[in-house]
Amino acid sequence: MSETVAVIPGDGIGHEVVPAALEVLDSVADVEFVHVEAGDAVAERTGDPLPAETLEAVTDADATLFGATGETSADVILPLRDAVDSFVNVRPARTYPGVDAVQPETDLVILRENTEGVYAGIENRLSADVSTLTRLVTQSASRRFAEFACEYVESNGLDGFTIAHKNNVMRVTDGLFVDTVREVAAERGVDADDAYMDAMATHLAMDPGQYDVIVCPNLAGDMLSDLAAGLVGGLGLLPSANVGAERGIFEPVHGCAPDIAGEGIANPTATILSAAMLLEFLGADAAARDVRTAVESTLADGPRTPDLGGTATTDEVAAAVVDRLPEG
Ligand code: NAI
Ligand code: MG
Repeated sequence: MSETVAVIPGDGIGHEVVPAALEVLDSVADVEFVHVEAGDAVAERTGDPLPAETLEAVTDADATLFGATGETSADVILPLRDAVDSFVNVRPARTYPGVDAVQPETDLVILRENTEGVYAGIENRLSADVSTLTRLVTQSASRRFAEFACEYVESNGLDGFTIAHKNNVMRVTDGLFVDTVREVAAERGVDADDAYMDAMATHLAMDPGQYDVIVCPNLAGDMLSDLAAGLVGGLGLLPSANVGAERGIFEPVHGCAPDIAGEGIANPTATILSAAMLLEFLGADAAARDVRTAVESTLADGPRTPDLGGTATTDEVAAAVVDRLPEG
């Protein structure tokens, strides 16, 4: 494999967890890295959080590994997701032996629609008093997203998914979303349950074992995946993939964590697992499996970073993962 991977550390702990993940990637795959910048720091220097050179590197690359940016994150990650037409965000949340979890039986994947809803960017300030936001839902985007969800269920040997929505209140937009997803599921013979997203938050907190795959609009997916992170032991564990037809951007669910940035103690697990999703996207399934196995064994035996109750540094955890990879 000799694909190009654009690498954007971003801000804060992005500069710690991304190099850690690159060390792991470098040990299992022959990829060419193209290092580019985005985020608060580059915006401060140049006025632009997403330089043209970065956008070009991402659209040219086979895949992108992204850390996290700070206050400019909406100006960075939303256009990047657009640029590679990543219409779905895949967010797995599971527990690991050795990691204290609020709900140890959690093992689910959130499939988040990644282009529409309230994150479509249609906001207006109409007057000093009044601001508005337009929630965009199209049948075409809902259909393409639902087709991905069905394929995901089929290729992972699962029965179906649960749609999280609020079509009792957002009757037109979530009405269209739910009807379209249900229609596609029926065509494909995939079971589709559904639940109101607020009620689902309670179900997730109390009994997450009932869910395998949750399919939801953009904002609901953002919130429910942070909730899922809380169930399994924290944001430091959750990877994600922004998947398009041809390209993908892989990033931890967490942000740039300014409260611990610079201390060298950020948990690199989420970013390393995002790199594993990147490998899988590029077709390097065996390498992806090796990385996951090495991560699991490191979480079980340590070393662990302080967010998981340990005292290890980011680099020590990365080195431990690399040590556990099969001899290349
Ligand atoms: P955050 O995810 O950066 O941090 C929340 C809490 O989790 C903090 O206490 C942090 O220390 C901890 N945490 C996060 N990742 C960790 C890791 N790998 N290891 C150990 N602890 C970890 O979210 P917050 O504080 O809401 O946002 C901070 C900044 O990040 C903001 O400027 C926000 O806009 C940005 N952000 C960027 C995102 C992106 O680039 N995709 C996503 C979310 C937030
Ligand atoms: Mg988020």
